[in-house]
Amino acid sequence: MSITFDASTKTFYLDGKGMTYAFFINEHGYAEHLYYGQPIAHDDLSYTRERGVQSFVVKIPGKENVNGLCYYGQFPTELSFFGTGDYREPTVAVTNAAGDRLAELLYDGHEILSEKPAITGMPSMRGGETLVVHLKDQFTAFACDLYYTVYDDCGVIARRAVYKNGAKTPVMLNRAYSFAMSLPGGDYDMISLHGAWATERAVQRTPLPYGVTSVDSKRTTSSATLNPFMAIVGKTTDELQGNAYGVSLVYSSSYVLKAEKNESGNVLLTGGINDFDFAWKLGAGESFETPEVVLAYSHEGLGGMSRQFHDAYRNHLINPRYVRSHRPVVINNWEGTYFNFDNEKLKAIVKAVAGTGIDTFVLDDGWFGKRDNDRSGLGDWVVNSQKLQGGLTEIINYVHSLGMNFGLWFEPEMISEDSDLYRAHPDYAIGVPGRARCTSRTQYMLDLTRKEVRDAVVGAVNKILRENQIEYVKWDYNRNVTESFSLGREPERQAEFAHRYALGVYDLCERIVNANPDVFFEGCSGGGARFDPAMLYYFPQIWTSDDSDAEERTRIQYGTSMVYPVSTMSCHVSVVPNHQTTRVTPMKTRADIAHLGATGYELDTSSFTDEDRETTKAQVEDYHGMEELVLNGDLYRTEDIYNSNYFGFMLVSKDQNDALLTAYRRMGGAQVETKYLRVCGLDANKKYRVSGLDKVLSGSTLMNVGLLARFPRGDFGTVTHHFTAVEE
Ligand code: DGJ
Repeated sequence: MSITFDASTKTFYLDGKGMTYAFFINEHGYAEHLYYGQPIAHDDLSYTRERGVQSFVVKIPGKENVNGLCYYGQFPTELSFFGTGDYREPTVAVTNAAGDRLAELLYDGHEILSEKPAITGMPSMRGGETLVVHLKDQFTAFACDLYYTVYDDCGVIARRAVYKNGAKTPVMLNRAYSFAMSLPGGDYDMISLHGAWATERAVQRTPLPYGVTSVDSKRTTSSATLNPFMAIVGKTTDELQGNAYGVSLVYSSSYVLKAEKNESGNVLLTGGINDFDFAWKLGAGESFETPEVVLAYSHEGLGGMSRQFHDAYRNHLINPRYVRSHRPVVINNWEGTYFNFDNEKLKAIVKAVAGTGIDTFVLDDGWFGKRDNDRSGLGDWVVNSQKLQGGLTEIINYVHSLGMNFGLWFEPEMISEDSDLYRAHPDYAIGVPGRARCTSRTQYMLDLTRKEVRDAVVGAVNKILRENQIEYVKWDYNRNVTESFSLGREPERQAEFAHRYALGVYDLCERIVNANPDVFFEGCSGGGARFDPAMLYYFPQIWTSDDSDAEERTRIQYGTSMVYPVSTMSCHVSVVPNHQTTRVTPMKTRADIAHLGATGYELDTSSFTDEDRETTKAQVEDYHGMEELVLNGDLYRTEDIYNSNYFGFMLVSKDQNDALLTAYRRMGGAQVETKYLRVCGLDANKKYRVSGLDKVLSGSTLMNVGLLARFPRGDFGTVTHHFTAVEE
């Protein structure tokens, strides 16, 4: 990994694992993009500059014929800005004191730092050599620092922008995106992850048309609707080969990512905080930090791109204490009891699985306040001693006496109208004074943009964690903001709400998650509606979806793995008929699919037979045998459930000595199966013992021939094969 500046050509070369990114400062001081792709030598790349389509050409006085080839609005840029002939999506939009909206950001020096500075109040990747390019408008002194960080263990670039008001009067930031990046003209497809409750992160691939195509959220959360991710790929790129450029935003509030194909066919990528319902008043001398965006490149197709993201997030984003450590195998009571439980019921659920290897009991929603359904109690983080006689202590002691850990559910960002907290502080709920507030799941949201509200939540949650021996917390979030408004904030600052909410959530996480370092935190949002890199910074794993049906989970886990490592996906074995789909799938299938993540169980185990216990015990033992691959392996998506009857995930250890293939067939048939399962990621020159085949075969044979599928008869079956390298 290295960042090099060639002073003779004013070119920056950013070399990371498997990639080079190059741009230069052109003759007029603009940061002009040159190249992003496979590693190349540090040649003079000026010959790659192209003329671009000439149409309604704009000439900037004194800068006619910008770059000698094309006018400003055409050349590939590192930062686009409005007002002087660039009609593409601007990266930044500012209203100056005079009312004009110009900011011509030109080179004003650079620094190369050996370590990346953290972002104030926001999660970001750790480590990596960092380039900071200073850009400045000479007329207003409005400035922007562009940050670029590269790593030697993953093919990503972390980028962000910091905007600075160098003037003596405030300016309004109307848009403050994190980055701009250019790709040369060509035919591309765009990939995004769309969804809703129970259908999170479904893969969508569409041709990239001329004009602006975007993914976004206006929900003050990253949302299940569209994940803060997009990939731009070549037409022939597939799972295994071809150029893939991924963009993943480390942010949990309203965001937008845009791909704009202009009249020359060039593509400009930009985005960050959604400027829909955004304005930020930047006082004289103040700075505005934008969230980090992580760009991943691979010439090994979508699979290669995903592996870069997985390594980046495991090595540099997720809490190092937990990211590679043994994951709790939980029994969660939600689907087993919903709100209807008491001590006896919970104890029966736990007792039934004690000794099976399940090591943590997570008590879900309903343990606090007046919480017998989802219409009351949120905000009252005190035990409901009618349900749990003996308080939390009794059930916690019981769980501990069986040698298991105890976990507890919270929804810290919410407040029910029917709660003591609301009765005491109705003003804590988000809303516009005098107007009715919308409810969602019969609840309101707390105004986390206000410090006194955050203090109240931190006090209540940390009190429970301090006074009880709790090893695990599930942090849920079950609605989205409406009526964005903060009491006490000046009118011209109300459009700062969505970003201030994100900063509020991060502050809450710092003061609860980071203040309780021995507690393992799992994220959740009505299923997986806030599954984003910023949340992963605090929560090493996130509940992937409320849809626990194994068939539907294959698609959800496939899509989620585009960006996120399998170890971050919390996945549970649940009962059949499945509560969400009514589908009946075999127990083995449910476990095989759940084990392709941070596994657990979520059903009423109090009626378990001895056979159920033994089955569970064997499954958990299996999981422990493969956990190392789940935590640290390279993922290959070997079968595409979106375009076939099959799903396949292969996890391969970094040294390629150990691997596991789990394949699934949706519908069985009457006839003999002639399907060969694809095998990927092995060392072609090593020999492997293949479980279920009782044979030693070379990596080259396995990867070229594949394995004849031997699914059990019927629908929804799975097969697994372990590959162990053997000495010849
Ligand atoms: C939504 C979550 O996704 C579920 O797992 C469960 O915790 C419920 N909330 C509880 O209300």
